[in-house]
Amino acid sequence: MAQNRTLQMYFCLLLLALSIIASVTSGLEISFASIPSTFTNAPSIMVTTSSHSAFDGPKLSNINSTSFDWWYFDICSEEASVQVVFMTSTPSAIGHPESSIPLVTFVTLNGLFPNGTAFAYVVPSMNAYIATDGDGSSGYFDGFGSWKGTPDMSCYTITIDSDAVGVKGALYFHGTAPAHYPFNFAAERSNSTEIFAPNFGWANAVPDSDARAHLTIGGTKLHIVGRGYHDKNWGDAPLQDTSKTWYWGHAKVGPYAIVWFDYISRDGQEYYSAYLTKNGVPVSLGSSMTVRPYGPNETQYQYPPSASSTNPTGFIININAGFAGKFEFTASNDNVVQAIDTYTRWTGQVTGGPVGGEEYYGPGVGLWEWMRFIS
Ligand SMILES: *[C@@H]1O[C@H](CO)[C@@H](O)[C@H](O)[C@H]1NC(C)=O
Ligand SMILES: *[C@@H]1O[C@H](CO)[C@@H](O)[C@H](O)[C@H]1NC(C)=O
Ligand SMILES: *[C@@H]1O[C@H](CO)[C@@H](O)[C@H](O)[C@H]1NC(C)=O
Ligand SMILES: *[C@@H]1O[C@H](CO)[C@@H](O)[C@H](O)[C@H]1NC(C)=O
Repeated sequence: MAQNRTLQMYFCLLLLALSIIASVTSGLEISFASIPSTFTNAPSIMVTTSSHSAFDGPKLSNINSTSFDWWYFDICSEEASVQVVFMTSTPSAIGHPESSIPLVTFVTLNGLFPNGTAFAYVVPSMNAYIATDGDGSSGYFDGFGSWKGTPDMSCYTITIDSDAVGVKGALYFHGTAPAHYPFNFAAERSNSTEIFAPNFGWANAVPDSDARAHLTIGGTKLHIVGRGYHDKNWGDAPLQDTSKTWYWGHAKVGPYAIVWFDYISRDGQEYYSAYLTKNGVPVSLGSSMTVRPYGPNETQYQYPPSASSTNPTGFIININAGFAGKFEFTASNDNVVQAIDTYTRWTGQVTGGPVGGEEYYGPGVGLWEWMRFIS
């Protein structure tokens, strides 16, 4: 018995030592925050540089009426898609002053059934909590459901059980490509900028993943096996005051996982970031790139887009990866997932690869958007 207890004690000490080593290694503590459901009047101080806080954790000290912080997830296949955004923001800070949502804590759920019919829900939450463990985040939004990430961000699960909108089910993400800040991989964690453009932060925990969604939406079952993605954006000024237009998207094409973001700020400056990995191994990040719309009509292909621009037929993504060469991908706007006055989201086929290379890959699948505040 005595020997047993001694062994147990050694075992506990060993576990304690291992957990100290683990927390020293990551340098990260566990955090837990209850998010007030209404905005505060204090300044929202935002994270701008990577340091010893969780990669996927909250990035604002608090939410005031002109700041925003959100956790975005999507899963797409050729046939169907689903997007979930856990918001902490007033609707007016993200370009929707007309919205009647009374709280800063709400969830949006959008997607497309295989027959092409779109679905869209908004669920306000009276109580919201966000926790971090290692670099991963977890959250609970009352009335909708929760998400849970592992400390290394390799796996995320969303569980939905919402009587309010009659949706139940789960989304699973198994990461296949490393996380990144706008211009640095997450592994380069000290002193990397987290700011992509003025007043606008970006951290991409899951650039590509094997993903599954199993949902029951108003009595209809929706099963998707495809690519999954998760990131977060935040800002300390209203989106429509700081940004003019952007093209963002992600895709898996052959061995390549790509994430593109081409953005024009209010003052007309272009900011861009291209993320490219091959079989999960980094090829390039933050190198020079362009995303340009195409289509037969001038209103579709004009760049930069203007108030008279219309939805293009697709986008061409050109990446100059330096020593790794040049890459070109074409994203074809096959399915409109969501279309409102300031915004269009598509899924479709993506093809491409190294320019002039023997191998041209595709079709792969992806999901992308055109956001605009141009009038
Ligand atoms: C919210 O916080 C930001 C950052 O401190 C500040 O610039 C902004 O003016 C604040 N908004 C309001 C309405 O006080
Ligand atoms: C597509 O499927 C959804 C879900 O079952 C259904 O509500 C909708 O009416 C269908 N649309 C068409 C055009 O058949
Ligand atoms: C962090 O990066 C900035 C900008 O590149 C640089 O000026 C500063 O010296 C760096 N600080 C440290 C501690 O490396
Ligand atoms: C084509 O361009 C004209 C004006 O040049 C515009 O009115 C029309 O909406 C455009 N059509 C499409 C499909 O973009």
